Amino acid sequence: MAAQSHTSPLFAGLPSQVTVYEVGPRDGLQNEQRMVPTADKIALINALSLTGLPKIEITSFVNPKWIPQLADASEVARGISRREGMGYSCLVPNRRGLDSALDAGMKEVAVFLSASETHNKKNINKTIAETLTAFEEVVAPAQRAGALVRAYVSTVFGCPYEGKVDPESTVRLVDKLLTLGVYQVSLGDTIGVATPRQVEDVILRLTSRFPIDKLALHFHDTRGTALANVVVGLQLGITTIDSALGGLGGCPYAPGASGNLATEDLIYMLDGMGIHTGVHLDALVDCSRQVGAFIGRELPSKYLKAHVGARSRAKA
Ligand code: HMG
Ligand code: MG
Repeated sequence: MAAQSHTSPLFAGLPSQVTVYEVGPRDGLQNEQRMVPTADKIALINALSLTGLPKIEITSFVNPKWIPQLADASEVARGISRREGMGYSCLVPNRRGLDSALDAGMKEVAVFLSASETHNKKNINKTIAETLTAFEEVVAPAQRAGALVRAYVSTVFGCPYEGKVDPESTVRLVDKLLTLGVYQVSLGDTIGVATPRQVEDVILRLTSRFPIDKLALHFHDTRGTALANVVVGLQLGITTIDSALGGLGGCPYAPGASGNLATEDLIYMLDGMGIHTGVHLDALVDCSRQVGAFIGRELPSKYLKAHVGARSRAKA
């Protein structure tokens, strides 16, 4: 679709380019009932690598008793074909995860914690303070080994156990994570409760202290507000957005969490707004159809549903 030919003050500050950070193979598959065979995961990541996506989060090096769906992290990391210039990342909760990730050839890793104590404890079995201490054994050693380190703060906009979350706890965590040396912090709406004014409030609190290019947004689309929240982020200058193909996703330790913002829905909107991503929508749709077949359920992406509907109407 062609870019809009007229602009108004409303859209004047939008970025011309956005980095789409694909988390489907990790955030998506960690939450599926059906175990996806390792070979299918590898085929999916290889296909995603051909869509123009610059970043793909492929798996997690976590305790397999906690996330059995990603117990094959090493095999996946060793099995994929890496394309020059692309970033392949994974979650690591601790030093043990980092060591396994580096052994398997990973050059980008991500640490994760929550802005609310209860979710942090349920998800990684530590207090927030203990988690930050554990990250001291991850971030600097990863960098010494030549790896890029990202961070996630979950439950920024609401917690499944505590409800409202003080935005200042996110400000403190972002400060600590950037001081530890991560290159970017992704702000997670783990259970998909964020609304645009709240997103504005959190981003403005952060950008009064930290450069905007240190921040990314990670929305789950549980209540249908993800794209509206993305637009607010773009208007405020955010240029990295996380999403998952087909709208897969969810945290097993966040009851009520549903799929991430679907990558197709995001790309469709960005293409229409004339914002460059480099991602080929049709190639991405093919990947989502592949995933739909091996997880055995319909994916929530609205673009995907419209596309499939249009194809079957055209055939009729
Ligand atoms: P723990 O049980 O407290 O760990 O788990 P521990 O240190 O006491 O060790 C217990 C056992 O786990 C030991 O094995 C360790 O070796 C092993 P044993 O001696 O019993 O045989 N272990 C490990 N094994 C493999 N890899 C490791 C590892 N570490 C310890 N890295 C731990 C603590 C953090 C490991 C656990 O809680 C865990 O794995 N949690 C993962 C939770 C998770 O992945 N959640 C989903 C991702 S977060 C998310 O989805 C949100 C996000 O998308 C953003 C958003 O949406 O907001 C990022
Ligand atoms: Mg998530």
